Amino acid sequence: MCGIVAYIGPRQAYPVLLKGLKRLEYRGYDSAGIALINDDNQLKVYKRKGKVAELEESLTGIPLAANIGIGHTRWATHGEPSDRNAHPHISQSGKIAMIHNGIIENYAQIKQELLNKGYRFHSDTDTEVLLNFIDDIREQNHCPLEEAVRIALKRVVGAYVIVLLDIENPDTLIAARKGSPLVIGIGKGEHFLASDASPILEYSKEVVYVNDYQVAIIKSDELILKNLGNERQTPFITKLDMDLAAIEKGGYDHFMIKEIFEQPTTVFDCLRGRLDAGLGLITLSGIEQNLETLTQARRIIIVACGTSWHAGLVGEYLIEELCRIPVEVEYASEFRYRNPVVGEGDVILAVSQSGETADTLVAIEKAKENGAFIYGIVNVVGSSIARVSHTGTYTHAGPEIGVASTKAFTAQLTVITLFALRLALAKGTISRERFLSLCNELSVIPDKIAQILDNAAAVEAIAQRYKDARDFLYLGRGNNFPIALEGALKLKEISYIHAEGYPAGEMKHGPIALVDDALPVVFVATKDAVHEKVVSNMQEIKARRGRVIAILTEGDDFTAQLCEAHIAIPETDELLTPLLSVIPMQLLAYYIGVAKDLDVDKPRNLAKSVTVE
Ligand code: F6R
Repeated sequence: MCGIVAYIGPRQAYPVLLKGLKRLEYRGYDSAGIALINDDNQLKVYKRKGKVAELEESLTGIPLAANIGIGHTRWATHGEPSDRNAHPHISQSGKIAMIHNGIIENYAQIKQELLNKGYRFHSDTDTEVLLNFIDDIREQNHCPLEEAVRIALKRVVGAYVIVLLDIENPDTLIAARKGSPLVIGIGKGEHFLASDASPILEYSKEVVYVNDYQVAIIKSDELILKNLGNERQTPFITKLDMDLAAIEKGGYDHFMIKEIFEQPTTVFDCLRGRLDAGLGLITLSGIEQNLETLTQARRIIIVACGTSWHAGLVGEYLIEELCRIPVEVEYASEFRYRNPVVGEGDVILAVSQSGETADTLVAIEKAKENGAFIYGIVNVVGSSIARVSHTGTYTHAGPEIGVASTKAFTAQLTVITLFALRLALAKGTISRERFLSLCNELSVIPDKIAQILDNAAAVEAIAQRYKDARDFLYLGRGNNFPIALEGALKLKEISYIHAEGYPAGEMKHGPIALVDDALPVVFVATKDAVHEKVVSNMQEIKARRGRVIAILTEGDDFTAQLCEAHIAIPETDELLTPLLSVIPMQLLAYYIGVAKDLDVDKPRNLAKSVTVE
């Protein structure tokens, strides 16, 4: 979703902005633009629909010398993707350029007021409305731009990060945030602004995460933060704990396959320092420090979106089985608009890779106001959801650049498993023997994931065979039902093939009508308590000439004979199977996408970090 970069300092701004925009491409966008105050003190805006590379090409030969500038990748909300709707926008006075990430909900009312005053608009965006509103306040009050920004933002309803470039103050950037992310990198006599740390990493490891309702006044050698009441606030400097290699492809064709292959390491990293299988110990500071609240929880509500929601569904099986606490799993976008019965005694697990998903963020803010205790399971350190949560556990999967979530999902499952085991021990709902056995099995999961990846070529061959199918059905039972959903979601996202995930037992209640000799049906049919039931469902599909592909436990030759194609995964404890069964699902979607020559890292219409509702 929209990406923001800005620079002020002694370097040439344009190359910094361009590289930054390329680093943010993974977030998903449809147009790109930059604005500079050039060495002749002119405010210049260049923007167009399409890729950053197309913008770059269109600027070949144009003099772009400047030491201050802002850049933007837009993911359309108000108005179609087009040159005129692309950011930066320029105010009617021609004095201010602005980029914006988020949505201004009361823009229509403000626009009408400005229209009444004679303002005319050149785009369909809410951004241009906010920009002219700010410019109008400055004109009316003869005040500095930062003051006009503060006054305007007090009236604004919605989410935003804005960065403004002002021809009257060519040595200052003004930025502000509410609900959308903004990071400021601190260099020597220079500052870098971005939606996340990736564009900043190669210049500085010292960053400030701007908080909601803060306005930043940024010069080359000075950073001032104020609240909307004009009080100064001390910037809190954080050290970035990642390196450049983590955000580059490192020899792989795509980020998605790099991230799939990183999973033995990311799951291991996630367990490191938390699981000591030898001693039979799990330490999660979020649990240790809140033992009473968590053991006394009357209910756990897992709130998330998309793939993170699927991790939550697996979590429901784990927590109910091990901790005997009732669990509900909610789509954040539904939960936040209901009037949910939630309050003291409820623990919310907020699961999010980016930590910026607007629906999840607002849902937990609401639950927090009602007295619920918020436990964040988040990948991006310092992100909004991490900061709103009372406590939590980072998933430590490292930056996930591929738009489709892979390694973040297995890291979420790992954290949720640790959470359930630790809590079960504290509540006394698990025997010491079972606890030790699960700890041991969890500690070898990274090796077992590596074994599956060693067999990736077999999945690639299956992908070649089925890549032209028009639809797919994915079926599973128990804790493999969420994996069926995840398999279907991955395929949809990456290959644009229509795919549905269902509990295998539900098949007879409708989806079986879809089955014919052209329909591949992917079963998760590992050896577990419901294996026989799943095999019966497989027979039913076969009887209707459906094309059965299955993920099976190694050595299950009997079930293998029933399938047109199968992928074997190592045996593990039934409760941990999803950590393995999802790997072939990810590979299948990836290889089908590649076979269809699609942009697997940046599928159409998708955004990595969904910062609007
Ligand atoms: C799918 C995918 C999305 C995200 C969803 C939530 O591959 O990546 O479905 O899982 O947008 O995002 P986070 O986890 O950042 O809250």
